[in-house]
Amino acid sequence: MRWIRAAGRGLLVLVVIMTGYAASGARAHEGSADGRGPLTLATAGDLTGYLGPLLEGWNRTHPDERVTLVELPDSADETRAQMATDLRDGDRHRFDVLNIDVNWTPEFAAAGWIRPLPRDRFPLGSFLPPVVDTATYDGRLYAVPYVTNAGLLLYRKDVLAAEGVEPPRTWAELERQARTLAPKHGLEGYAGQFLPYEGLTVNAAEAVYSAGGSILGDEGERVTVDSAAAREGIGFLVRGVREGWIPQAALTYKEEESKRAFQDGRLLFLRNWPYAYVGASAPGSPLAGKVGAVPLPGPDGPATSVLGGSNLAVSAHARHPDSAARLLAYLTSEPVQRQVLTRGALPPVRADLYEDPELVRAFPYLPTLRESVLAAAPRPKSPHYDQVSLAVQAVVHDAMTGHETPESAVRRLARELAAISRR
Ligand code: GLC
Repeated sequence: MRWIRAAGRGLLVLVVIMTGYAASGARAHEGSADGRGPLTLATAGDLTGYLGPLLEGWNRTHPDERVTLVELPDSADETRAQMATDLRDGDRHRFDVLNIDVNWTPEFAAAGWIRPLPRDRFPLGSFLPPVVDTATYDGRLYAVPYVTNAGLLLYRKDVLAAEGVEPPRTWAELERQARTLAPKHGLEGYAGQFLPYEGLTVNAAEAVYSAGGSILGDEGERVTVDSAAAREGIGFLVRGVREGWIPQAALTYKEEESKRAFQDGRLLFLRNWPYAYVGASAPGSPLAGKVGAVPLPGPDGPATSVLGGSNLAVSAHARHPDSAARLLAYLTSEPVQRQVLTRGALPPVRADLYEDPELVRAFPYLPTLRESVLAAAPRPKSPHYDQVSLAVQAVVHDAMTGHETPESAVRRLARELAAISRR
């Protein structure tokens, strides 16, 4: 069973999987009059270390509604593909609750794969407002926000201090420091997530938005990418590779590879989500005490980050919808959201946690992160989001590897997106 990736993730998770799966398998078709019973929860396989103990908490207090964790691949695209396969097959489906990327809600809802949820069962008013929007489609709630995210620029505090310079606020400053200071200290300049997958769509959208451009308008019906601003945004990434202050290796990085390159002391600057900052600066990391984080730089000041994160949705075929809704309420409750941050290093969706004095002491970046999330822009909303994202990744990667100029890349992307929106 390749899709249950238990190996190496600790005994506790293994126990959850084995006991939970056996239980859910045995009772899979029993059903129950009140919609209660065992569940499976499918999620991308990265950053799940903290989740086993959280679910154990639920399983201890809900023995008849045990949840089994199903870990899918690390990459967002591969996870989406496996979820889509499962959700299309009503007879043989295995996933009851799905931890879906924020930008998949429209596609999954429009396809009828996930069920609308009653708003009054969830504390939507306690969440940061932009995250609730990502869970809504066609005026209905189709998922419950679980984790949010916004990009940050991580930098080597020790190197910039030795040079007596402030962290960059603009692309020009970032380029200059990456080009001139990094080699002096035996480092590469700048990396993000530039492998062709969802992460590259995120990085490309941030560059385009920050230059004042957009990709799609009117809920995905209008293609707006053919603009001077989009050329400028893509041009920033293309120039980095051409001039060498973005290393070639970065063209193969997802979140984890890029974090490792930074944490191993190979990079001066890294665009990543906050979890990478927490990991790189934690006691025991080779960079403990040497890492700073600031808002992403843009052409003339702070950039526009893309809104990341994930929502919890209930499959249209879920065996026990009432238990599924109860599990969603548990995972978004205050104590659990607190642990999502303290144990998982993932940004919670509950607004009040960003102002909690104890948490702000332990995670001093919380107020900045809150501002970044509130100012973050969503990825293009489209029921064909998977195809939109594939087109963005492919074209931007071709431009970054020197196979297209930013001008022709933007023209080609506009043509491909127009063809997708006609489908
Ligand atoms: C993070 C974000 C998610 C994004 C993904 C891209 O997991 O939370 O929204 O799609 O990275 O790799």
